[in-house]
Amino acid sequence: MEIKERNRSYTSEKEGGIWFSFSRRNILTLAGWGLFFATIGAYLSQILGYKGFFYPKVLFEPSPRFSVGEPKAFPENSVTTLKSRKIFVVRDGNSFKAISVVCQHLGCAVEFSREKNIFECPCHGSKYYRNGVNFAGPAPRPLDHFEVVLDDSGKLVVDTSKKVPLETELVV
Ligand code: FES
Repeated sequence: MEIKERNRSYTSEKEGGIWFSFSRRNILTLAGWGLFFATIGAYLSQILGYKGFFYPKVLFEPSPRFSVGEPKAFPENSVTTLKSRKIFVVRDGNSFKAISVVCQHLGCAVEFSREKNIFECPCHGSKYYRNGVNFAGPAPRPLDHFEVVLDDSGKLVVDTSKKVPLETELVV
């Protein structure tokens, strides 16, 4: 009697044509398959999906080589701050330099003081001459200088991936 009763819950198709019965075993089986397919789906989305396994793991940063415009755009004997590029373009007569704004102490952005004609760091007081050489405060070395060249169209091009010696300048 007991066996017959149990069979009824599993094979309800014979009795009433219902293809599925809500027995505990069926629900657990369904939950198991559901978990299985969810796991497979999660793995596949990692492998094939947007930014998945095949997507290159790179940072998209602006090029370190960029044009800053024609030489005449910079007044003679001036220091122009290009904040977005983190450089100063220093023009003395017809010579140009690109100097980093990054302080050599702990990396704050230095500022140019027109009154004093020097670079000053607002964080711990380092000071640099107009040519980038440090003379006061905790900064251990001069500001970085970057390569400046003239391209075919006559524009100044700075490459912040190429550091150059302090005395390097582009004369146009
Ligand atoms: S970060 Fe410039 S002096 Fe400390």
